[in-house]
Amino acid sequence: LTKDKTQKVILVSIVPLPKGKKMTVFRDLTHERRQEKIIEAQQETMIESARLSSLGEMAAGIAHEINNPLAIIQGSADLVHAALEKGGMEPEKLARSMERISSTVSRIAKIITGLKSFARDGSKDPFVPASLKAVVGEALELCQSRYRHNGVELILNLPEEDVLVAARPVQLAQLLVNLLNNAFDAVENQAQKKVCIGVEIAGGDACLRVLDNGPGVPPELRDKILQPFFTTKAPGKGTGLGLSLSRAIVESHGGRLEIKTIGGLTCFEAALPLLPAA
Ligand SMILES: Nc1ncnc2c1ncn2[C@@H]1O[C@H](COP(=O)(O)OP(=O)(O)OP(=O)(O)O)[C@@H](O)[C@H]1O
Ligand SMILES: [Mg+2]
Repeated sequence: LTKDKTQKVILVSIVPLPKGKKMTVFRDLTHERRQEKIIEAQQETMIESARLSSLGEMAAGIAHEINNPLAIIQGSADLVHAALEKGGMEPEKLARSMERISSTVSRIAKIITGLKSFARDGSKDPFVPASLKAVVGEALELCQSRYRHNGVELILNLPEEDVLVAARPVQLAQLLVNLLNNAFDAVENQAQKKVCIGVEIAGGDACLRVLDNGPGVPPELRDKILQPFFTTKAPGKGTGLGLSLSRAIVESHGGRLEIKTIGGLTCFEAALPLLPAA
């Protein structure tokens, strides 16, 4: 602490000199430390904005996904209302309407839960055994309707048996949503838009794949696209952070993010260490 109560970071090194003498060197690292902290904070802000921007991309789809069930609830409530005005409703019919309202409310609640967990920073969550099939389900809650309403065929290729990994599930869902958003953009100009999600055990790894029938990634760009801020999308559309964030997520799970071509489709594959089923 200095006289004016600010904190300084000082590196003290003692350097041995000939004849048993010593020299003490003081180095003021305050400025460097402060810069490091600023850079760290900026990185966190970037990651945060990438996550929020992918949420923005999905917003229209999510609004739709919530609007449809709202219409069902409204319809059921109107039905009950009209029947009551006419003097009553058969108990079974009433029960069916109430059941429809209640299950539709649960569906909306599920979407909101998914949204909340996506908007959260999962980077400090503990690693827990997580099912890749469940991760796919969660990401689909958020992306599915955007696909459906834009004529993109979504094919699921999931195994019977569950595939388990040690994971921060929120982050894996974020990874998958990033890949699905990219695949969605990639097929934009195709006459037949096709995206496939695959879960498979291959070479001892738990593989999570997103394939699309878009134009693919030119070989000379394969390394570049993983770098932060590299984007081929219009300004304001892409931040170029999606894949670098995805790679960071996969690597923090001890895995690799690879780009392949499989059966003529562009494939982004997260190969994660498999957790042996108990
Ligand atoms: N499935 C894909 N097919 C073809 N090119 C792709 C695919 N996924 C990513 N790319 C290329 O990689 C670039 C970087 O992707 P990344 O997800 O990091 O950023 P972005 O999608 O451009 O922006 P953001 O994800 O931040 O909205 C894209 O701009 C695109 O050129
Ligand atoms: Mg992206």
